Amino acid sequence: MNPINQSPAWRKLQQRAEGIGKLSMRQLFAEDVSRAERMSVDACGIHLDYSKNLVDDDILQQLGMLIETADVGGWRDRMTAGDAINNTEQRAVLHMALRNRGDRPYRVGGDDVMPGVLGVLAQMRAFSEAVRSGAWLGHGGKPMTDVVSIGIGGSSLGPMMVCEALQAYQSPALRVHFVSNVDGAQLTQTLQSLDAETTLFVIASKTFTTQETLTNARTARAWCVDALGDEAAIARHFVAVSTNADEVAAFGIDTDNMFAFWDWVGGRYSLWSAIGLPIALAVGMERFEQLLAGAHAMDEHFIAAPTEANMPMILALLGIWNSNFLGAGSHAVIPYDQNLRNLPTYLQQADMESNGKRVTRDGMAIDYATGPVVWGQPGTDAQHSFFQLIHQGTRLVPTDFVLPLRSHYPVGDHHAKLVANCLAQSQALMQGKTAAEAEAELVAAGMAPEAVARLLPHKVFPGNRPSNLLLLEQVTPAALGALIALYEHKIFVQGIVWGLDSYDQWGVELGKQLAGKLLQVFADPSAGAGLDGSTAALVERYRRAGSEK
Ligand code: F6P
Repeated sequence: MNPINQSPAWRKLQQRAEGIGKLSMRQLFAEDVSRAERMSVDACGIHLDYSKNLVDDDILQQLGMLIETADVGGWRDRMTAGDAINNTEQRAVLHMALRNRGDRPYRVGGDDVMPGVLGVLAQMRAFSEAVRSGAWLGHGGKPMTDVVSIGIGGSSLGPMMVCEALQAYQSPALRVHFVSNVDGAQLTQTLQSLDAETTLFVIASKTFTTQETLTNARTARAWCVDALGDEAAIARHFVAVSTNADEVAAFGIDTDNMFAFWDWVGGRYSLWSAIGLPIALAVGMERFEQLLAGAHAMDEHFIAAPTEANMPMILALLGIWNSNFLGAGSHAVIPYDQNLRNLPTYLQQADMESNGKRVTRDGMAIDYATGPVVWGQPGTDAQHSFFQLIHQGTRLVPTDFVLPLRSHYPVGDHHAKLVANCLAQSQALMQGKTAAEAEAELVAAGMAPEAVARLLPHKVFPGNRPSNLLLLEQVTPAALGALIALYEHKIFVQGIVWGLDSYDQWGVELGKQLAGKLLQVFADPSAGAGLDGSTAALVERYRRAGSEK
């Protein structure tokens, strides 16, 4: 296939982008009272208003052509058919099978994967119910009060983000903690308030070879055995989630206490698998299944809806318009919900590890922008830190606002204020404030003409800055499932249009390799021959500090 940037639709979009200075969102809204209605779509309990983007009907139509040109529909069919669309690892990409609630068949190499998926869900149900009800007893005969999930990246971020997001559904009787960093501070601080007799560890690692996870897991095991005085305690206090039964057994966890998943589940797409066990422990299996159902509903929408009504496709195309044509290098996600505070962090891995690539699926160099830098923080806090740049800086930062209409914490008028702030931010980004408006305000405030002239440039807001509004009724398990699946499919569509493999992550390997070599150098300085001058000097400083192990 020819590179996407040589397609007629791409060229037309480039031409439209050259004349974009003439397009004013304010004017577009003034001229078309139905704009917001026309540029909104509802699916699976989510309302997306994308009318505050710098687009008109012609631009949207040309963007839609990219879906045809890149054969997104064909790739979507290949994905659901279990083809190895992760071609550099020769793996199928079937996270949709994990939340399949209907009768759509999912196969890999001709084998139906659904019996295995349903079997593990049943195992998760039995285990989570036993732990939550107090029937699962620790080595000393006591029920569990704390779960520590040890994992990193996709084996941690998804469950952590979801557990936080669904905090309102959790009971204080079972607390769930997450440890990911190899920095001993995190594990030490987590363990210091816990009682080994009532603590359950979930060791979550697809490969079960990840340095950080295995290091934390070994230290946790030593802590547990030390406190309970018996190696046999491991059987009641450690379970594993992995694709690698051999390594789980080698670590010392009975594979009866292992929850399996499969190589066709990418790490950053795995929260729907047994990697979601901490979610089931935190909020119960029924709610975990509601999360799956919400995601499944979004899958069906993504599979069936035409481009112009397909929410993931619309978000993907707007992202492409903003980055490839309007030059945005980053994308902000601002949840107006404190419990969604880690949604941006979760999406950083989902998006940047998927689409942060510089060659096509066939290994050809890409000469157009691919995945943006994804970042964000909850509103209203974000307003008081970096929104200055989003409103008046020299960079274009397309922003997704995520807003639940109802709060789980209805206290006073907090939620009304939260909603007003969110809507106001997207309104301000769109309409800005002209020099005439700013001047009129300053004059009305009684300011002297010289002072007005001095201050005026600082008071102008250029506006015309794109944002999407994603409204949820409330952050329920189902709505959250749909929201996460929405972003997953957006990432898929963008990866297909950009012609890259969204499901590998070779870029994380070099650092891991070099860290392994440096650990050898710490143990044996002669292994450091050939290190570059900077790294050698830094190693030497570390050695002189005297704490190398
Ligand atoms: O280093 C990146 C990565 O491979 C991620 O893709 C993955 O989610 C994470 O590490 C954890 O890997 P594992 O689940 O095998 O421990």
